[in-house]
Amino acid sequence: MTDIRLDDRVAIVTGAGGGLGRAHALLLASRGAKVVVNDLGGSVDGSGASTRAADAVVAEIEAAGGRAAASYDSVDEPEAAASIVKTAIDAFGKLDIVVNNAGILRDVSFLKMDQAAWDSVIRVHLTGTMLVSKAAWPHLRDNGWGRVVNTTSAAGLYGNFGQANYSAAKMGIVGLSKTLAHEGAKYGIKVNVIAPVAKSRMTETILPPPVLETIRPEAVSPVVAYLCSDRCEETAQVYAVGGGYVARVAVVEAIGTQLGDGLTPERVAESWGQINDLGGARPFDNAMEAAQQALKGAMS
Ligand code: NAI
Repeated sequence: MTDIRLDDRVAIVTGAGGGLGRAHALLLASRGAKVVVNDLGGSVDGSGASTRAADAVVAEIEAAGGRAAASYDSVDEPEAAASIVKTAIDAFGKLDIVVNNAGILRDVSFLKMDQAAWDSVIRVHLTGTMLVSKAAWPHLRDNGWGRVVNTTSAAGLYGNFGQANYSAAKMGIVGLSKTLAHEGAKYGIKVNVIAPVAKSRMTETILPPPVLETIRPEAVSPVVAYLCSDRCEETAQVYAVGGGYVARVAVVEAIGTQLGDGLTPERVAESWGQINDLGGARPFDNAMEAAQQALKGAMS
């Protein structure tokens, strides 16, 4: 199989000053992409800012013979998100690929969570993903080609104690991505999502060291590079990735039951097994396809 190359592509990777974003940026650049390395350079809870993180990754890319430009803007303000995209246009003349990866944590149990912990996490992850995608969208449309890779989490897909804000933001990113995939289809824009697991400052206090050594960020980036390439035909999909493991994740709906006018609380109770049985469960490509399951029964 021929190598997957990204020559002549211009990519933005947000939050690329460390962790997963750095690994994504290095791999995309090594495959020929010109990369905007965006990072606010703050701490894991989103406080502070520094130019050091983005500059260091730009230097690494250039030392390896690649092309890169630094961006220190925060993804979560409209003007700053537009400035990230402008960095790509000013430095490299166009934009083809966006990897929305920037993120912060403000973990706390729901009972103790204050409004600031909710707002900041929703802003950086969900609003930030939207704002950078929105600023990039006209450029991708004008190309007639685009790749967007967004970042969710198992916490969003399945829930995790102490992460109500983060889970909501991360599942919001899945819904946003699916709709952008539908809207981008006619312009050749493909939008997919990864749910990574990797060693980073976000996970190094949570997972034991021997486990962390098996899940390097570099074991996630090849999936990102594939999803950013011409070879990728998929859109609107979610992939769990970590430590060499890659698997599609899907929202599925059970075959269920159609009780029509006979739907009473008691019939619901009697049918509970069938309603919950995931044997034969299937994913749907869009909301209309899903709604038709209900309409089909109601109209028959
Ligand atoms: P990290 O903390 O090393 O990387 C996040 C980067 O985003 C940091 O360099 C940070 O400075 C930057 N950033 C934060 N706020 C920003 C803002 N407003 N504008 C621009 N940059 C900003 O953590 P990690 O693990 O590499 O996380 C990357 C992404 O992967 C995040 O979206 C995270 O939620 C997600 N993720 C990571 C998992 C893991 O196992 N490491 C698991 C599931 C999801």
